Amino acid sequence: MRLLVTGARGQLGSELRRCLETGEAEVGAIPSCYEDAVVDYVDYDVLDISDAHAVRSWFAAHGPYDMVVNCAAVTNVDGCESDEAGAFKVNALGALYLARSAQACGAKLVHVSTDYVFAGDDPRPRVETDHVCPISAYGRTKWAGEVLVADACERSFIVRTAWLYGYVGRNFAKTMIRLAKDHGKISVVSDQMGNPTSANDLAYEILALASGEDFGTYHCTNNGTCSWFDFACAVVDAAGLACEKEPLTSAEYKLRFPNSADRPAYSSLENARLRDTVGDEMRPWRDALADYMHNLPELGD
Ligand SMILES: NC(=O)c1ccc[n+]([C@@H]2O[C@H](COP(=O)([O-])OP(=O)(O)OC[C@H]3O[C@@H](n4cnc5c(N)ncnc54)[C@H](OP(=O)(O)O)[C@@H]3O)[C@@H](O)[C@H]2O)c1
Repeated sequence: MRLLVTGARGQLGSELRRCLETGEAEVGAIPSCYEDAVVDYVDYDVLDISDAHAVRSWFAAHGPYDMVVNCAAVTNVDGCESDEAGAFKVNALGALYLARSAQACGAKLVHVSTDYVFAGDDPRPRVETDHVCPISAYGRTKWAGEVLVADACERSFIVRTAWLYGYVGRNFAKTMIRLAKDHGKISVVSDQMGNPTSANDLAYEILALASGEDFGTYHCTNNGTCSWFDFACAVVDAAGLACEKEPLTSAEYKLRFPNSADRPAYSSLENARLRDTVGDEMRPWRDALADYMHNLPELGD
């Protein structure tokens, strides 16, 4: 089997690589079909997915592939507000270029998307068929990517995830640890609800899902819903850091950071389609976080 992983140095790309190279994720062995996989891991410096010519040339020179996993994206939610066009080039057009090339060589494509395609104005976990209505530039560009991928590639999986943290790269959990250590205080929004998700668990579930042929849109997060504040408290408690914990409303946060993007108040996802097809093997978020906090000193960069 020949695979291409884009955005391979990011949080998810790094965990996919770890799983494919070791044959294992934290929750168990990955499917045996990946045992002899030959994988090209590429990032921005080698393949800019927003360059249509570069994507076509890459596939011509290195393809055909059996599977492409697109982990490349502009993920700075606040940054997207000031450069929506730049984010669109990567999150929507880049995804389209990969989808076209995957389609041309008959490859499966896994494209990763986000809970931020939902407005989050209704406190009920969202299923895959629920109406989307992004309220941020990031969400709009990711939604556009979903539409373009589904249209261009018949053998595509669109996997929406949320609040991702991996061992490699920057994330919310690492930021909370740093703030607690450096300032002895964390101030975190307590009225936005979602699903913290381990990038290693997501990598495992993506590989399991993509070994089959049940194409379409999936929600894939660790199970259970909490606020950013709950998530932050769980991180600093697990790190054994005594610090002041200040809950903030979204309105208070916006006053402190006026240029920050609007985020859904409630964007918890239900892994409904996973449950109904390959099975929902995503564990509770606190269990995944416990493993992460235990392994971070060894595996974190
Ligand atoms: N992080 C989250 O909380 C979260 C939540 C929901 C969904 N997601 C989705 O999950 C996926 C993986 O996210 P992640 O957290 O692993 O992201 P990440 O850590 O930010 O990694 C994204 C990678 O894509 C690369 N990249 C950016 N522009 C590119 C381009 N034009 N061509 C090729 N590569 C490019 C980045 O390189 P540079 O670092 O050099 O720019 C980076 O290595 C994304 O689709 C994201 O939208 C993430």
